Amino acid sequence: MKKYKNIIKVAIDSPAAAGAGTQAKLISKHYNLFYLDTGKIYRLIANIKIKNPLQYNYKLIQKRISKLTMGDLNNKGLLSDEVGTMASIISKDIKIRKLVHAFQIRCAYHPPKKYNGSCLDGRDIVTKIVPDADFKFFITANTKTRALRRYKELKGLKKIISFEDVLKSIKNRDKSDYNRKISPLKKTKDSVLINTTKHTKRSCFLKIKKIMDKKINA
Ligand code: C5P
Repeated sequence: MKKYKNIIKVAIDSPAAAGAGTQAKLISKHYNLFYLDTGKIYRLIANIKIKNPLQYNYKLIQKRISKLTMGDLNNKGLLSDEVGTMASIISKDIKIRKLVHAFQIRCAYHPPKKYNGSCLDGRDIVTKIVPDADFKFFITANTKTRALRRYKELKGLKKIISFEDVLKSIKNRDKSDYNRKISPLKKTKDSVLINTTKHTKRSCFLKIKKIMDKKINA
């Protein structure tokens, strides 16, 4: 595996189901970067709230986050629309955001030694978590395309849900994520816009790779 002189930090922000996770995984694999899907952390907290509404409190979440492993984030139960919707509610809470902040910083700036760096995706990665990232991307796609992709993904997981409900939920999440007071989703001036609506996964990745290779090999 190729080694680079300095650690490479990639930061990606995107609205729901825009293809950021797919691109982040491709980037991480290609450059051997440690990948963190930060949405999964908010989903994990949301799942605790859904499953144990009466026990849910900051102390419990703090304890849970202090023991968080990557394996915890692979739970397929976190992928449901119900969990995603709850994640966009609990993620507006500044105390919750503060509890997960340190974990994300550690992953971004101190990835395990075997990696060449890190790649994080979420809503506030460029603006709050890794503002000095070497590469900053804002990945998006039109609302219907994103809803269709999420609908197919949920169908693949055998979830019973209609396209209309997925579309409604994507629109609600966008409204919440773009307009919230704390860490709203926004594209910074120095982020490269990647619109995946009319492009294949491969062609989007090649565009990103071209940008990254140019700087890495300069
Ligand atoms: O990316 P994903 O759809 O899994 O994220 C679920 C929710 O978690 C988002 O709609 C958003 O409200 C919240 N989130 C966030 N900040 C991040 C990642 C996700 O607020 N960095």
